[in-house]
Amino acid sequence: MWAFQQLEPFEHFISRQRAKGHSIGFVPTMGALHAGHLSLIRQSNAAHDITVCSIFVNPTQFNDPLDLLKYPRMEAQDLYLLERAHCGVAFLPSEAEVYPQGHGAGPEFMFGTLDQIMEGAFRPGHFLGVAQVVYRFLQMVEPDAIYMGQKDFQQVAIVREMIRQAGLQVRLVMCPTVREENGLAMSSRNVRLPETQRTQAALIYEVLQDIKERAHSANLPHLREEALRRLAEAPGFRPEYVEIVDGRSLQQVNAMEESDFVVACIACWVGEVRLIDNLVIKFSDK
Ligand code: PAJ
Repeated sequence: MWAFQQLEPFEHFISRQRAKGHSIGFVPTMGALHAGHLSLIRQSNAAHDITVCSIFVNPTQFNDPLDLLKYPRMEAQDLYLLERAHCGVAFLPSEAEVYPQGHGAGPEFMFGTLDQIMEGAFRPGHFLGVAQVVYRFLQMVEPDAIYMGQKDFQQVAIVREMIRQAGLQVRLVMCPTVREENGLAMSSRNVRLPETQRTQAALIYEVLQDIKERAHSANLPHLREEALRRLAEAPGFRPEYVEIVDGRSLQQVNAMEESDFVVACIACWVGEVRLIDNLVIKFSDK
């Protein structure tokens, strides 16, 4: 595996790959890699000559400075895992190379309501930071396709819209959520959960599954309220939202007939850690 920290040799390497006609798959990450990230590497490897994985803890997407400070950093282990997953290139640029003109530079994206609901409402500025950094990485890597996890469903919608607004040619591939044995969605933040809370956090997935099982026969606003109550009543849990939305517009859905693509989304604090998860509860590709 190649590993680059500096932009110039990285770009040189990429242009050599391009000259050879190699296709490039790109997996952006913030490190603290787990099986979820590695599944993206595998899917990219299966479709491209070479996979680039970036590791960069992007300061502009952290609305909470404490979260940025506490974000797990384990570079040596990450490189080992990437090597073992047969990733072709690890790219770990410095902040100065990602943001040569400071944090505010780059195109201005407008996400309208996509950015005002769910994560957008609870983490102001978060998605502008995500869009900005992914745009910058797409400039540096120029991949044929970018691989992102369904775990961050709203993030995928934002990046899709950013790609559209910027007129980029890259293909966006959304990959399924990888879960722990108990159903908890894998997340870099899970390492901050003490063992008992990590076990209890499986409740989030149970609640999502319950919504899915009952969605066709029950009233959706009622299901939502009940899910919120169930989470709020669990010791150490503090739900921020439970939403049942259209998978494209992310607007709230009040009855299953309203959409052919329905997704249930949850954000919930478990102790000191904020977790998000979602489940597609209806999808019919007409
Ligand atoms: P990070 O949280 O490190 O996630 C990197 C990628 O891995 C994202 O596309 C995310 O959706 C995916 N991922 C995380 N957990 C997953 C799981 N359990 N199953 C499948 N995929 C999973 O998301 C970010 O970083 C950043 O916002 C980033 C896009 C890198 C921009 O800074």
